[in-house]
Parts: sequence; C-alpha cells; structure tokens
Amino acid sequence: MASNTALKICFVFFVCLIASRPALAQLSNQNYYATRCPKALDTIKSAVKSAVAKEARMGASLLRLHFHDCFVNGCDASILLDDTANFTGEKTAFPNVNSTRGFDVIDTIKSKMEKLCPGVVSCADILAVVARDSVVKLGGRSWQVQLGRRDSTTASLNAANTNLPAPTLNLSALITSFSNKGFTAKEMVALSGSHTIGQARCVTFRNRLYNENDISSSFATSLKAQCPSSGGDNNLSPLDITSPTSFDSAYFSNLVSQKGLLHSDQQLFSGGSTNAQVTTYSKNLDLFKNDFAKAMVKMGGLSPLTGSAGQIRTNCKRVN
Ligand code: HEM
Ligand SMILES: *[C@@H]1O[C@H](CO)[C@@H](O)[C@H](O)[C@H]1NC(C)=O
Ligand SMILES: *[C@@H]1O[C@H](CO)[C@@H](O)[C@H](O)[C@H]1NC(C)=O
Ligand SMILES: *[C@@H]1O[C@H](CO)[C@@H](O)[C@H](O)[C@H]1NC(C)=O
Repeated sequence: MASNTALKICFVFFVCLIASRPALAQLSNQNYYATRCPKALDTIKSAVKSAVAKEARMGASLLRLHFHDCFVNGCDASILLDDTANFTGEKTAFPNVNSTRGFDVIDTIKSKMEKLCPGVVSCADILAVVARDSVVKLGGRSWQVQLGRRDSTTASLNAANTNLPAPTLNLSALITSFSNKGFTAKEMVALSGSHTIGQARCVTFRNRLYNENDISSSFATSLKAQCPSSGGDNNLSPLDITSPTSFDSAYFSNLVSQKGLLHSDQQLFSGGSTNAQVTTYSKNLDLFKNDFAKAMVKMGGLSPLTGSAGQIRTNCKRVN
C-alpha cells in the first residue's frame, strides 16, 4: 500500500515536472537544413567570403551582430528589426547606435535564402552561421553551428541597453554581466578574444587614453593622434593594434603589454582573477581558439525560439 502511494506521488510529481517545464528550446544539429534547404550553408559561406574579401572588418562586424542578438532576449534576430509604430527596436540602443554594422550583408544573404527556399531559413540562424564563417575566414577555427532557431516578432530597446556589457565595466562587473547569461568568467575571457578583430570608436576608449594608468605610454601617445580629448568621437582604432584582421591571440599578448584598447579589455589583465588565463591564451593559440569555439556554441544556444514559437521572417528587418 505504502509503496503504491509513493508510486502515485512519484507519478504526479513526474507529470507536474514535465508540465511545468517551459517549452524547452532545443536546437538541432548542423544538418538541420540538409533536407530543408540543401544549398543554404554553402550559399551563406560564399556570401561571407566575398563580403570579407571586400572589407576584412566586415567579418568582425558580423561576429558582433550575433553577440548583440544573443545577449538580448536570446538568439532570435531581434537586433535586425527596424523600429515600428508598436515598438522601438534595438538598433538605436546605446551599444548599437552608430556602431553595429553588416545589416546589408545579412539582408543580401536573406534574399538569397528566400530565392532558394522561401520561408525556411531564419534570420537568427543566418546570424549564427555568418558569425562562424566570419571567424573562419579571418583565421579562427571552425565549429558546428546548431540550427533551428526561429525569429522574434518583437525587439527590446531596454533589454539591449541593460544586457549588453559596456566598455566602462570593471572585471567584477564584466563577470557579473556574463554570469547573468550563464557564462563563467573563463568563458567571458575566451569570448572577449573576439576583440582580436575589428575596430572601436574613439568615444568608447577616450577616457582610458587620458585618465588611466594601466596603459602603455607609447600606445596611448599614438592613439591620442586619432582620438583627441574632445571631438572625433567616431574616429576608429583597431581593438587589436597588432593584427586587426587576423583571428589570432595577439589581443591577449597586447593585454599583457598594457595595450588593450578598451577599459573592459585591459580589466582582464588588471591584477585580478583572470590574469593567468590571459597569459595562457597569449602563448597558446590553439587553446584560445578551442575555448572560443566552445563558448560560441554555448552563446548560440541562448534562449532560442523553436518549434512553433516566433516565425521565419521573410525580411529580417520586419515581422511578417
Ligand atoms: C566582454 C564584454 C564586451 C564589451 C564591454 C564589448 C564592447 C565593445 C565595444 C565598445 C566595441 C566598439 C564599438 C564601437 O566603437 O562602435 C566592440 C567591438 C567589437 N566587439 Fe565587443 N564587447 C564585449 C564582448 C564581445 C563579445 C563577447 C564579442 C563576440 C562574441 C564581441 C565582438 C566584438 C567585435 C568583433 C567588435 C568589432 C566590431 C567591428 O569592427 O565592427 N565583443 N565591443
Ligand atoms: C501594431 O500593432 C497592431 C495591433 O496589434 C497591428 O494591427 C499593427 O499591424 C502593428 N503595426 C506594425 C507596424 O507592426
Ligand atoms: C551618432 O552619430 C551621429 C553622426 O555623427 C551623431 O550626431 C550622434 O550624436 C551619434 N549618436 C550617438 C548616440 O552617439
Ligand atoms: C566595479 O564596479 C562596480 C560597479 O560600478 C563597483 O560597485 C565595484 O566597487 C567595482 N569594483 C572594483 C574592484 O573596482
């Protein structure tokens, strides 16, 4: 009798457990489009290849779009939506305005997808694949992109302003920002290695040039020519002064010699708990590339819309 009751309780508990689970978002493996749209991945890869051949920085800009998508209510292509009468999108959020780029490349790829197989390939999956292909094109290692994301029907200016880390953050705030999304400090450092490619505007690092001490003086002097103490907000400098279009470990060697461009970059080698990892990555490129790839797969899994949630947008800028 007693064991029968226990069994019933156990059963009810089990049913409740299943029922109370949120529609668990489960991505599929990289073969998701093999039958649905066989040419999708090759077509995306060659479009990224030509965009990056035309302008190497585009690889960096495309990688960043995926990050800024995933950290704001999940990898749902919300960043691609233009403002509408019903909501203000994410493009004008502080971390994105005058800064995120590559939207035209995504739109071109989306048009190709709609010609190949209408209504099948989501904008969110395009962002994930394009990020991987960009890293590979600039010398990083490849990884298997999980697929099957669907696109949001809304976007959040407020979430973009609060969930994306600012370059003014110190180490503990950076760790908290990533831990809020389920990442360890170690994964945060690996992902920050993205800054081995791409550019930043003067407005994002001016304070570091003129007010901080943990900066190489020759580095600061050369940057000041590009980034005056006032004016020139949009002037660009490479995040990795050594090799801005190569996905290598120079970002980490730069930090060791106090040549991080952003305050947040240099914080990773500021005498805190992440110093040793920075030193290790500066000497072990393969380890960095592997850790980066793993962390990117994890980032690509942030709260995707799957099943019947969301939609496959036909135009990434607009809800259907
Ligand atoms: C750790 C916290 C991070 C902070 C505070 C941060 C901040 C920034 C800032 C301020 C810029 C320059 C933007 C501009 O001036 O327009 C930038 C650029 C960039 N970020 Fe980050 N970022 C972080 C992490 C990441 C992650 C995790 C990724 C990718 C996975 C990433 C990828 C990039 C790339 C590739 C660029 C260059 C973009 C281009 O040249 O168009 N960042 N980031
Ligand atoms: C705004 O919302 C209303 C009501 O839900 C809808 O009818 C309208 O099409 C939406 N407008 C846009 C531009 O999305
Ligand atoms: C964006 O750039 C424009 C043109 O340079 C400038 O007028 C505007 O203030 C910038 N916006 C922000 C938030 O930096
Ligand atoms: C880091 O920044 C946070 C938030 O601004 C602040 O509370 C904290 O004291 C700072 N920590 C250090 C070690 O400077």
